[in-house]
Amino acid sequence: MRILSGVQPTGNLHIGNYLGAIRQFVALQNDSANEGYFFVADLHAMTTIRSGSELRENSFKVAADYIALGLDPKRSVLYRQSDVAEVPELAWMLSTVTPMGLLQRGHSYKDKVSKGITPNHGLFAYPVLMAADILIVRADKVPVGRDQKQHLEMTRDIAAAFNQAYGEPILKVPEELILPDVAVVPGIDGQKMSKSYGNTLEIFAPEGELKRRVMSIVTDSTPVSDPKPTRGNTVYTLLKLFTPEAQWPGTRRLFTEGGTGYGEMKKRLLGLVLDTFRDARARREELERDRAYVEEVLRDGRERAATVIGQVMAHCRRVCGLGWV
Ligand code: ADP
Ligand code: TRP
Repeated sequence: MRILSGVQPTGNLHIGNYLGAIRQFVALQNDSANEGYFFVADLHAMTTIRSGSELRENSFKVAADYIALGLDPKRSVLYRQSDVAEVPELAWMLSTVTPMGLLQRGHSYKDKVSKGITPNHGLFAYPVLMAADILIVRADKVPVGRDQKQHLEMTRDIAAAFNQAYGEPILKVPEELILPDVAVVPGIDGQKMSKSYGNTLEIFAPEGELKRRVMSIVTDSTPVSDPKPTRGNTVYTLLKLFTPEAQWPGTRRLFTEGGTGYGEMKKRLLGLVLDTFRDARARREELERDRAYVEEVLRDGRERAATVIGQVMAHCRRVCGLGWV
């Protein structure tokens, strides 16, 4: 099974990105039946970042984070989206079969417009570029968080429209892979954790900074002695995500029985987060000192992706009538 996914280099990776996405990438990569393609979606990030140096640095960071978190450049193909010039070329081909109405119904686009962001064409066409990412490597499965479900549905519609238009099953119609129990990881303010809301717990933040963020998770004012609510409680939700199953009944009792304050629960959470990422944090520091290695990994990934991309593009160009046969 060919697995493909990407992360936008719009900021530092957080535990929502890990639990909702990268942890699955690593598990899928480690299944020998799979072939993983994981890329840094820098073209997509241009819809939010206007500084070239910032975008380039963020792209490096995501690549290093991928490797530190367990994506293995020997097993998986790791690359940078903008290194594959054919991606925007395929996006153009796809845009000619994509109905305006399909894009106008996009939740992510509508959300941004309703927040007062002046939409540009890149934001509007974002799902078409994402379809190109997926279809260009003939991916079977695309592991993502729930917020990306509609984008995957659009990708399927666009692939079907292209195949229909040219009368051949040229593009492989992919499926999404969503882990239901960690579908939305809450941020320190209780909203969905997102780089764009400034409410994240960053995986590779310095320990002191991580501690400050954990201690500032918004809680209710239940007295220490009383039982704490479990529904809609961010500390509870995050502890559940990080506590080993065997220890969970004991941790859950801290909430249901009362007698434990949120401060203590947060310290426990911080310890679990640091333990979970201890090895990754050490590897990430090494990679920071060996940037040439990370760059080499991306170059190598692009070369390995070239075969399938070349085949898909040759087929698409032929049916569309581009170039000479
Ligand atoms: P952000 O919202 O922080 O900018 P991205 O949109 O770059 O994150 O998402 C990268 C990946 O991480 C996607 O697959 C997305 O669905 C997943 N993801 C992001 N935030 C969360 C979250 N809070 N819970 C679960 N998955 C998430
Ligand atoms: N839109 C995705 C996100 O914000 C990132 C992304 C771009 C992606 N292209 C993709 C994810 C292709 C999966 C497959 O998270």
